[in-house]
Order: sequence, then structure tokens, then C-alpha cells
Amino acid sequence: MSHTPQPKTLHVAASHPLGTVTAEEAYLFEKLDLNQLPRHLAVIMDGNGRWAQRRHLPRIAGHKAGTETARTTIETCARLKIEALTLYAFSVENWRRPKAETDFLMQLLREYLRQEMPLLQKNNIRMRFLGRADELPEEVQRDTREAEIETAKNTGTVLCVALNYGGRAEIVHAVNQILQEKKNAGQAQVTEEEFAEKMYTAGLPDPDLLIRTSGEMRVSNFLLWQIAYAEIYVTETLWPDFNRARLLEAFVDYQKRERRYGGIGEGKSRKPVRAAGE
Ligand code: FPP
Repeated sequence: MSHTPQPKTLHVAASHPLGTVTAEEAYLFEKLDLNQLPRHLAVIMDGNGRWAQRRHLPRIAGHKAGTETARTTIETCARLKIEALTLYAFSVENWRRPKAETDFLMQLLREYLRQEMPLLQKNNIRMRFLGRADELPEEVQRDTREAEIETAKNTGTVLCVALNYGGRAEIVHAVNQILQEKKNAGQAQVTEEEFAEKMYTAGLPDPDLLIRTSGEMRVSNFLLWQIAYAEIYVTETLWPDFNRARLLEAFVDYQKRERRYGGIGEGKSRKPVRAAGE
């Protein structure tokens, strides 16, 4: 009996919110409640090196492939009208890698910004960079600043790229700012709200969902303050393989979770409140 292969791409009406979708993507999309998507998605994009290694390729090939995944993730979040997406692109600890790799990652980001600016504008995306900007190479500082300025008026998804980022460094940075301001004002107390406004993510909701690819069960110094109540989704899929269907799958899984915020779980609370002692 002849076997007809399933078409890889299903051309749904041009009006599909995700554009051209595969049969699997269309199926997963149907399962989603668009009113219950995370307001802020944070992603630890891990596994580029392993992806390359498995193909006997240099690590940088994994980072290049990972950039394609980042592009798809960004566009999908914009199409789904997710308020904020934060991608962990480079940590303060990543300088420990060989110089050739760190140089490559910086160039990759610059290339991405150069190539993607029209699409970022078309998708109404506003860019923000989180991290110690002053320690980045001059040309990266210039390009990231320009990207923030060029997209500042956009009103859609806020794309935060954590670059030379460390969660502890961010907290210490906020504390120092507060100490200075409180000293000047002769005050000695700080509230959670005041503290949050001194973090790199000021003005954004806390992440509702944190995705980590490639199976590691670690937070790796990422958004330590902000993920207090985030749902955590760890998948074995390596970042370059984390395609749109895998992202939709993560959203479907997230929508099955019951968020309690320290309460006892009556119904599926989505309220981003800060409460003690979960
Ligand atoms: C972790 O994989 C990945 C990184 C340190 C870099 C991630 C950066 C990108 C995907 C490019 C980002 C681009 C944009 C546009 C934001 P790893 O090298 O630690 O993988 P391994 O654990 O398998 O070695």
C-alpha cells in the first residue's frame, strides 16, 4: 500500500495569526487560550554547543543555528502579542569562554541587529538590553543603544536581550542605586515596588514562564528577583531545535498549570501578585 507523506507545511488562510503554519503548529495553536498566554516569557537558550557537537560542527555553528531559533521565537511572541520576551544571550560568566567564541557571539548579535531591524520595526517590537552595557565592546554598545533608540516608539512586544547579564550583579546594581537615593533623601526603608523599579526590567511585568532548553535544571543567575513566581518549563530539546511547535507546546503546558502565589489553589489564578511563602 502506498503511503502518502503528510505535507510539511499546511497553508492555512493568510489570516492565521501565525502566518504559514505546519499541521502540528495549527493543532497546537488551536489548543491555546490566547487570553491566558504568559505576559512575559523568559528563555535560557541552552544547548547550542551540544547541537553543533552532535553534528561534528564547531560550536559557533550551534550559535548561528540558535540565532534562527531566536528569530522564530521573537516573531511568534510578537504575533501572539506577548507583552515581553527576555532572551538570555550572554551572561557575565560567559567571558570565561574562549575569546574566539565570545567575539563570535558579539558579532552574531551585531549582525542580527543589522539584518533584523526592518522586521523588528514591521512587527512593532521594542528592544531593550539588560546587563552591564559599559563592559561590552564599544561597537556593541553603540549598536545596542541605536537599536533601543530606533525601536523606542514601538508599542508591541518588548524584546529584552540579556547581554553581559548577571542576576546577582543586577540586584547589587539596584541596591547601590537605592542606597545613593535614600541617603540623599535621608530615608532608610525600601519597598518591593521601589526595588523592582531599580532593576533592569523596570516597568515590565515579572516573567510568568521561564523556559530552559537542553535539560539542565538550573536557573544560572538569570532574573533571580523577577522569577520568584514564574512557572518553569525545562525541555530536553536543544535550543537550535526548539522550533515554533516546541514553543507552542510549552505554552500549552503552561496553561495547564495552577498558579497559587502562596495561596491554596482555588481555581487557576493568573494574577501577578507578590505574596510571601509559597
Ligand atoms: C548557550 O548554549 C547559548 C549561549 C551562551 C548563547 C546564546 C546566543 C544565541 C542563540 C544568539 C542570540 C541571538 C539573539 C538574536 C538574541 P551553550 O553554548 O552553552 O551550549 P552547550 O551547553 O551545549 O555548550
